[in-house]
Amino acid sequence: MNKNFYITTPIYYPSAKPHMGHAYSSIIADFFARFKKIDGFNVYFLTGTDEHGLKIQRAAEKKKIKTLEFCNEISLTFKDLSKTLNLSNTDFIRTTENRHKKSVQHLWSELEKNDEIYLSKYSGWYSVSDEAFYGEDEIEVIDGKKIAISSKSAVEWVDEESYFFRLSKWQKPLLDFYQKNPNFIAPEARKNEVIKFVEGGLKDLSVSRKTFSWGIEVPNDKDHVIYVWLDALTNYISALNFPNINDHLFKNFWPASIHLIGKDILRFHAVYWPAFLLAAKVDLPKRVYGHGWILSGDEKMSKSKGNILDPLEIVDKYGLDPLRYYLIKEVSFGNDGNISQDRLEDCINSDLANNFGNLCQRVTAFATKNCDSKIPKKIKFEKDDLKILDNYKNNIDKIREKIDNQDINFYINFIVNSLFEANKYFNDQEPWKKKNDLIRLNTIVYTTLEIVRKISFLLYPIIPESSLKALKIFGITEDKINTISIIDNNFLLNIDKINKIDILFHKIEKNND
Ligand code: ME8
Ligand code: MG
Repeated sequence: MNKNFYITTPIYYPSAKPHMGHAYSSIIADFFARFKKIDGFNVYFLTGTDEHGLKIQRAAEKKKIKTLEFCNEISLTFKDLSKTLNLSNTDFIRTTENRHKKSVQHLWSELEKNDEIYLSKYSGWYSVSDEAFYGEDEIEVIDGKKIAISSKSAVEWVDEESYFFRLSKWQKPLLDFYQKNPNFIAPEARKNEVIKFVEGGLKDLSVSRKTFSWGIEVPNDKDHVIYVWLDALTNYISALNFPNINDHLFKNFWPASIHLIGKDILRFHAVYWPAFLLAAKVDLPKRVYGHGWILSGDEKMSKSKGNILDPLEIVDKYGLDPLRYYLIKEVSFGNDGNISQDRLEDCINSDLANNFGNLCQRVTAFATKNCDSKIPKKIKFEKDDLKILDNYKNNIDKIREKIDNQDINFYINFIVNSLFEANKYFNDQEPWKKKNDLIRLNTIVYTTLEIVRKISFLLYPIIPESSLKALKIFGITEDKINTISIIDNNFLLNIDKINKIDILFHKIEKNND
């Protein structure tokens, strides 16, 4: 079995500082990356910033600083955010880096060589905010202003010489590809939208601009810069040292296992990107997953709308793991979701403090007092113990399969139920009443500890820092985490003592006015 896993986030526009939507995509990608890592895969996890194009050039002009200086500054805030969010990314790519430029120009030359590009003239509508061309049928007039229907962003008229990519000729090959690879686009409903769009016919795509300069030069024509999406999408292979296809990174990790993106940029990833790759004779990624939007009220949270929740403020106030847990649990993955501080606080109190934190504290406190701070070894499993312990063994294949289908909702529900069952087990078994039956007392303590270990392991992709704090009970550190098994019920027999841990989560006082 191929044990390499390559996951990417979109590369974000550093036109303004990062917001909760960016944090969301990155946290979800980190979730998958960390799960695969503890499941024994070699993981390559890429994120970065998309720094060319008119949108960025104008944002820098507005601030009256040089475009590259502007990019350096804001790209750094994205890099800092990836640290604040505790992302396990392997690489952070910037499209202004040389390694990327070389790669994009090579891809262009391949397309040109294969007669996929020709010079003509573009006149039509363009949204700088989306960096996208729109047809007459894709725009509407609201309050006297022309906007794109899908994104509601303003469009302006463009009339200039431009290179075109022969997108139209890839309509049929793309439809064939979608049919042969039914899992290429997910979730299902979004796949159907894309197929409908492609079935509607594809026009050749303008892939260069002449009236501004902030971009990668077209090889052999310095009057043109390469369209920012052709530039940006290539990041997924430039980070792997394309065109050096014998490089170990490219060899091991391309094609990508999954491009995780928001639904706003699905067309670029599910239509244009595979068409560019087909035309350049490069393998296609295995999956593109377009997740939903985080809403603020009923609107998409976005920089241009100014309705953003600042992830840094939330992390500052509540800590990182509560935010990660909340976003993963409460935004039903694939769909749009509203978020609120009130619900975040409920999550901290009920799931994290009451269910997980409390379980860890109770069983370690009880074992410290009654088992001399040791993992009890004289045990004898009974039916109730095995029933709860074996639940993990019985579900691990299903968990893996669900993860490979990006069913995060299954995963989190499994954990929430497990926590509930574990607390219930400890209560029902009443170890404090078993002081005259030490084997039984020991077995209950052992079983509960073993469940804490298993659940902490499963929580690692969601709340890595807290999971590691809990695993400290058993002296398990991050570098060992991929060697531990959740199906082995006897794992703790080889561990001696129980380490005390600090309170994992503090409850939030809620004022109900
Ligand atoms: O589109 N809810 O960059 P971008 C959920 N540079 N996710 C959101 C979101 C929201 N409200 N807002 C943004 C670009 N996102 C291009 C990408 S990739 C080759 C180039 C997330 O800064 C989501 O993943 O506008 C969305 O697709 C992405 O940020 C867009 O970020
Ligand atoms: Mg955007």
